[in-house]
Amino acid sequence: MIGKKLEINYKEYSSLEELDAKDRMLIQAARQAQKSSYAPYSHFNVGAAVLLEDGTVVKGSNQENAASPSGLCAERTAMFAAGATYPGVAMVSMAIAGGPDFGLCESPATPCGACRQVMAEYQKIGRKPMSIILTGKDKIWKFEKVDDMLPFIFDSI
Ligand code: THU
Repeated sequence: MIGKKLEINYKEYSSLEELDAKDRMLIQAARQAQKSSYAPYSHFNVGAAVLLEDGTVVKGSNQENAASPSGLCAERTAMFAAGATYPGVAMVSMAIAGGPDFGLCESPATPCGACRQVMAEYQKIGRKPMSIILTGKDKIWKFEKVDDMLPFIFDSI
């Protein structure tokens, strides 16, 4: 038996000013998208903004439903909207902002496993790394590619 270790790489920023203009713009778009969150059951409101390779920004927010499995996370809402509206255009970055009652968590809210799996597939078909930017109250985390969020991606295609 050989014990193996895996390293996860990401960057932590302590203020918006440390990020470049594109990343700041995308965070703003995610915060704006958060306002459209429909989360009357969890009161946890999430916004996501996907940047496409041609500069288009597609927004999404979590949409809940009384029949709970019928709802969807902000990240998948945004990615599926982008995939459906701009098929074949690579998704190169996504910013996510979430927290209770339209606020932000102290440490950034992190995407669920199902959303990471969907990110992985869009990154693969886009053939470009998709960076993921997570927004917290006083911390921002940036992952340069989806692989850094989801190692051992299930990959059947
Ligand atoms: N949620 C997201 O939108 N994104 C995530 O990455 C995690 C959770 C939503 C789903 C649900 O509407 C609420 O947050 C509480 O789980």
